[in-house]
Amino acid sequence: TKKRDEGLRIVLIGPPGSGKGTQAPIIKDEYCLCHLSTGDMLRAAIEQGTELGKQVKAITESGSLVPDDTMVSMIKENIAKPECSKGFILDGFPRTVVQAEKLDKMLGEDDKKLDHVLDFSIDDSLLTRRITGRLVHLASGRSYHKEFFPPKVPMTDDVTGEPLIQRPDDNEVVLKKRLATFHANTKPVLNYYKHTGILSTIDASQSASFISNTIKAIFLSTFHFPQSFNVFS
Ligand code: AP5
Repeated sequence: TKKRDEGLRIVLIGPPGSGKGTQAPIIKDEYCLCHLSTGDMLRAAIEQGTELGKQVKAITESGSLVPDDTMVSMIKENIAKPECSKGFILDGFPRTVVQAEKLDKMLGEDDKKLDHVLDFSIDDSLLTRRITGRLVHLASGRSYHKEFFPPKVPMTDDVTGEPLIQRPDDNEVVLKKRLATFHANTKPVLNYYKHTGILSTIDASQSASFISNTIKAIFLSTFHFPQSFNVFS
């Protein structure tokens, strides 16, 4: 096995609306990691009208899962990019046990394939309000909430001034299907990581700032200086 001595590798797992996409940019900035959101990538492909976009539009809008092979190739291609060589956040992947197994294979010979798997745990009943009130900036993946995190100007992205949209899958009917898909296909992924010692469960019903602090505390409690780190250099 190969010793890996730098860069955090993090996986975020949680139901729709649990706050993965809210926390990922915060973690990314704090730890200089690349953020790979499979949902954002699929929405970008749909927006650009690519062949992949045409194939996945109906699947994502109905709340089902895109086939494993498509998602595995997408992640493989993105993880190999230079900007991800110093660590990454996987947001929305792996979502099935097959995807988790293929991710392990992809990360190859390293002694420690992943550093943290964060389980965003929250009761389904709290998610409807979060999902139906969400507004997103498609180009960046930034998300707001009509009530909880309103943009400074209504329906406008704070950073670019571009319009915000509501995702086509963010309605009560599709949310039910997305939750059922989560419980059937993604919950077993938590079991897959249970015995690895890297799984931490977070109470995702708390405020966003509380959750950010919890995540920082988890990382701090297990932080090891890279081998190349030398305080005297
Ligand atoms: P994806 O985009 O990954 O959707 P999802 O998993 O359903 O997750 P969401 O983006 O809905 O939730 P989130 O946890 O990021 O919530 P957020 O932080 O925005 O996937 C979409 C589709 O793509 C899937 O259905 C599937 O078809 C396909 N797909 C993607 N990956 C795939 C894969 N690997 N395999 C197969 N298919 C795949 O928060 C939600 C709202 O709540 C926001 O408005 C936010 O402002 C607010 N909020 C956040 N935190 C808090 C808080 N603590 N308190 C109050 N409000 C909060």
